[in-house]
Amino acid sequence: MAEGGWVDVGGVEELAAGPPVREVRVGGRAKVALVRKDGVWSAISGVCNHVGGPLGQGHLDGDYVVCPWHGWKFHRATGEGEPGFEADKVPAHEVRVEGGRVLVSVEPTSGRSKAPHEPHPLARRIEREPGPIRVAGISTTVMNRDLPRFSTSDELLAAALGHCAGELGCERRMIRLNDLSFRACEGYYSKSARACTWPCSITQMDPDDQLDQVYEAFVHWADVLLIATPIRWGAASALYYKMVERMNCIQNQITLSNRILLKNKVAGFIITGGQDNVQAVAGQMLGFFAEVGCVFPQHPFIAHSRGWDAEDMERNVAAVRDSSDLHDAARELAARAVDMSKVLLASSIEDRRLLRGGRKAYGPARMQED
Ligand code: FES
Repeated sequence: MAEGGWVDVGGVEELAAGPPVREVRVGGRAKVALVRKDGVWSAISGVCNHVGGPLGQGHLDGDYVVCPWHGWKFHRATGEGEPGFEADKVPAHEVRVEGGRVLVSVEPTSGRSKAPHEPHPLARRIEREPGPIRVAGISTTVMNRDLPRFSTSDELLAAALGHCAGELGCERRMIRLNDLSFRACEGYYSKSARACTWPCSITQMDPDDQLDQVYEAFVHWADVLLIATPIRWGAASALYYKMVERMNCIQNQITLSNRILLKNKVAGFIITGGQDNVQAVAGQMLGFFAEVGCVFPQHPFIAHSRGWDAEDMERNVAAVRDSSDLHDAARELAARAVDMSKVLLASSIEDRRLLRGGRKAYGPARMQED
C-alpha cells in the first residue's frame, strides 16, 4: 500500500491482462485513470472536467482517454484536453514499476484547469419576459414532408392557436416536430443520473440537433403548452414519445438538484384518432406533464375518435375537418388553458407585476423557496 506518497495499485501482469484504461484509487478515495499503452504506464485524474464522468471507465483513442459519459478527451500522460482544448486539463500522476508492481503517486504532478466554456443559451436564468400570455403549440404528427396530408390533430391545434392569437390576445408559436431534425434520447442517465445534464447532453454536443427549439419554448418562453397528437396503435405518435424521452433532462434536474425548470406552465392536449384508446393516450400525457411540473386547466384534453373499427379514414378526416363543434372545443381548451395561466401568474405578487410589464428572474434557489 502507500509508501512515501506512492500507492501500489496491483501487479504488472495482473493489470496488463485487463483493459488499457482502468479505474484505481489512490490516497484514500481519489479516483485515478490508470493507462497502459505500448507497455508504458501513465495516470491521470479519474474525474472528468465536464460534469465529473469516470475517466477510469473510459477507453483509449490514440493517446487520449475518452470520457464514457459524453466523450471529452484528455491526454493519457499530461491530462491535457485534446488538441484545441489543451487548457482543459485534469491532474496527472506519476507512475513507476518496481518489483513487478505498479505504483502511482498520491499527489498529482499537475493541477486541474478548466477552460471557460461558453454556456449553452438554454442554460441561462429562467426569466419570464414581461408581456401577454404565450402559447406554444406542439404538433407531433408524422408525415411525408414532400407529400403532406390533412392532419386532424394539426387542424384542431391550428384552431386553438388561432383563437389564442385572436380573441385571447396571446402570443403564439407553432412547433411541428415533423419539421425538426433531432436525435432520440441516448440514455445518458442510464450511465449515471449526473450524466443526464441540463441543457440536454445531446443539445450541448450536437449543434445540428433542433430539439433546442422545443426546450426553449417549454422552459423559457411559453406559459401554455398545447400538445396535439394522433392516436397510433392505441398510443400517442412516435414523435411525441421521441420528444418526451428527451425531456428526461428536465425531470432529472428535480431529482438531482431539486431544481424545477418548468414553473407556472399549463399544459393541454388535443388527441384525435381514427381508432380508439383516447383515455389511455390522455392518461399517459397527463402523467408525464404532471411529473415535469405542469398544471392543467379543468378538462385538460379534447379528443375525437370514431372507434376501434373505424377504418374508413376519409370519413374520419371529414368528421373533424367539417365539425364546428370540434373546432369550438379546441378554442375552448385554449381559453381554459390561458385562463389557468392567468390564475397561476396572478397568484404571485411578483408575477402580477410581470403581467403588467414588470420583471422577475427565477433562479434555482428562488424556485426552491417558492
Ligand atoms: S464528457 Fe466527461 S462528464 Fe461529460
